[in-house]
Amino acid sequence: MSKLTHSPEWKALAAHRKKIAAASLAELFAADASRAGRFSIEAGELMLDYSKQRVDAEAMRLLTGLASQAQLPGWIARMFGGDPINSTEARAVLHVALRSGDTTFPEGRDVMPAVRGTRERMRRFVDEAHSGALKGADGRAITDIVNIGIGGSDLGPRMLVRAMRKFRKPGLKVHFVTNIDPADLDAALAGLTPGTTFFIVASKTFTTAETLANAARARAWLEAAFEKSTALSHHFAAVTANAAGAEALGVPPERVLPMWDWVGGRYSVWAAVGLPVALAVGMDAFEELLEGARAMDAHFRNEPLERNMPVVLALLEIWYVNFFGAGSRAVIPYSEDLRDLPAYLQQLEMESNGKRVDRDGNEVDYATAPVVWGASGTPSQHSFHQLLHQGTHLIPVDFIVVGRNGEQSAGQSALVANALAQSAALAFGNPTPGAPHKALPGNRPSSTLLLERLAPRALGALIALYEHKVFVEGIIWNLNSFDQWGVEHGKNLVRTLLPKLIEGGDTAGLDASTRGLLARLRKRD
Ligand code: F6P
Repeated sequence: MSKLTHSPEWKALAAHRKKIAAASLAELFAADASRAGRFSIEAGELMLDYSKQRVDAEAMRLLTGLASQAQLPGWIARMFGGDPINSTEARAVLHVALRSGDTTFPEGRDVMPAVRGTRERMRRFVDEAHSGALKGADGRAITDIVNIGIGGSDLGPRMLVRAMRKFRKPGLKVHFVTNIDPADLDAALAGLTPGTTFFIVASKTFTTAETLANAARARAWLEAAFEKSTALSHHFAAVTANAAGAEALGVPPERVLPMWDWVGGRYSVWAAVGLPVALAVGMDAFEELLEGARAMDAHFRNEPLERNMPVVLALLEIWYVNFFGAGSRAVIPYSEDLRDLPAYLQQLEMESNGKRVDRDGNEVDYATAPVVWGASGTPSQHSFHQLLHQGTHLIPVDFIVVGRNGEQSAGQSALVANALAQSAALAFGNPTPGAPHKALPGNRPSSTLLLERLAPRALGALIALYEHKVFVEGIIWNLNSFDQWGVEHGKNLVRTLLPKLIEGGDTAGLDASTRGLLARLRKRD
């Protein structure tokens, strides 16, 4: 039995869960007139209402006890202090430095000169692009930026460029290509002109097959348009910790922006991986994004555990995953501009905490990260909400609601009203005597995260909030949230399979299913 499941806090939570299961949310609200206020937290631009979660003061007290028992405050200090808490890779975890405003950070290992230097280089590049001084090989100003990357080198900037649609600067268009499926690049390049198109190849390792394949195809597209291959250097920048790899592709050294081993890919949007964002909205707005994240960092470091928004979100996740058996959580942003948020959170949460071995190498005896999924409301209501309301699974929901998105409009009000209606329907249900097929049982938990406006500061805080939530869960579950060894084996397998698919050869070592499929696929030509 692990220390966690053996702990008095864990056992007390299991007992308390039985007690609380008997109380409905309607009863909990009826019993406490101050419930809505008591179970909500403000942090800068964000407000979290978790009163529609199936908790009471005792549940929160016991859950907070789990965080204390795991020595969460000490771990927070270790992360911000630059300790190598990514133990399997012996690396520090310093994405918080990327949005730090400190002159020196962290103590004893100052990474700020590198961070500030990168921000300055980003600003110069963005200015160059916006002023029309960034020119292609034939002397025309660049009009289209194509970001080539995958996972952390794609999902963050892609999500933020869409989310900040209202802040976009006129002129430059930003596109994203991620899939090794050539259809992705083909679709992005349709209608673009080589002379006015610029590629950013973002890859921390610069060894990722999808990204290298797309970069090679982009190169071939340019080569077909220009006579001299020297022309290509006018059309490429790279963001990587592997400068040699980027230069081998022909990216001039002055166009290679750094990444560092102390930043995980899925935590990297705050520096040069965010270049497409800065190009879309300008460097000032990008810096506001950093300020929002910085404010959340300060909240996370300074607020007591019970008033600490990332901590509370993490504790609620643990409550449902470990004590109610929830296998998934839905994230439903009531904002079309935030529609890529669920995909972004899938990598952040599932790649970080989708693990079954703890920090000491022991198999865990408790569930870890749930499946994170979702889509934007209101279309989601006409797709999967049926299951949320009347299905057999308990699926906690994060509703992300934007208060006043700029001007007040009938459309925006309808959007917000729908979000509130959904969370109320989940919580309080709708008894319909004599018509069980129509009845909504209610008592289905959700949080509502309110952003006053979909603006850079609020977005920065929102993303940092989820990053820290993931960190807290990792500490309580005793996981290393900063490695991702589970994805390596598939990469190795494909290296063996691909030549067999293209050239044939010995398939004797493969399993019968793969062998059969390969044989059938090879016959197709
Ligand atoms: O394979 C998983 C992964 O390593 C992610 O963690 C990462 O974000 C993605 O691949 C892309 O990696 P890179 O930035 O090195 O190309």
